Amino acid sequence: MTVTVLLGAPGSGKGTQAKRLTTDESFVHLSTGDVLRSAIKAGTALGKQAQVSMDRGELVADTTMIGLIGETMETLPKRTTRILLDGFPRTLPQAEALSKTAATPVDKAIFFKVPEKELIRRLTGRRVCGNCGASFHLVSLPPKKENTCDSCGGPLKQRPDDSEAVVLKRLEIFSSQNSQLLDFYRQQGKLVEIDADQPVAELQASLLKILR
Ligand code: AP5
Repeated sequence: MTVTVLLGAPGSGKGTQAKRLTTDESFVHLSTGDVLRSAIKAGTALGKQAQVSMDRGELVADTTMIGLIGETMETLPKRTTRILLDGFPRTLPQAEALSKTAATPVDKAIFFKVPEKELIRRLTGRRVCGNCGASFHLVSLPPKKENTCDSCGGPLKQRPDDSEAVVLKRLEIFSSQNSQLLDFYRQQGKLVEIDADQPVAELQASLLKILR
């Protein structure tokens, strides 16, 4: 099993791309944000603990996240050959912990580069289905029927952490951690930077070239 880490600011398109790429059976998308949101929905102790930080746009504690990623990886199908890891690592201690786990060698860390103004536009306009989790954008990817999911007919909502004030906080925290992470993977010769300010389909084609 190989791990490809997707690095990038909130709203840089990591989730959108990883979900599209998992139509290819050799990729499994593992999003720590999705795992945490499922825990919140299920009302678990982890969910209750994580919700406070997430709603404020802050990071969940490293020890919690390192434990969670280890447990989640153990539940993946044995035939998994490549994991697209989205949202982890987000700090240097998380990257170091991942590199010490022999079962999860990182082959590449792909950094999605997008200007901040575009990130704010994408995040504040994002709407997600409360039922199946499908993601839309009010302007770039509007649903066919207002406030209704195209896939399952569920209601579309704004994520609590996508309000402008919380988005600015998330971007500030991202900036404070990101250069250390980039340096960590650059020093190992694993960092690949990609212009992610391009249409979804074109970005997917560029990513596939890097992944194959
Ligand atoms: P998480 O869910 O991981 O949020 P994030 O990293 O902030 O990422 P997003 O989902 O907001 O952005 P994305 O890059 O996936 O963009 P997307 O494809 O959706 O984490 C949430 C919280 O959980 C964190 O704040 C933290 O509290 C906690 N957490 C998670 N992991 C943690 C960890 N390891 N350590 C500590 N805490 C952790 O796209 C966004 C929008 O843009 C969509 O509307 C989409 O339609 C649109 N869009 C996408 N691509 C394009 C494009 N190419 N052109 C135009 N629009 C586009």
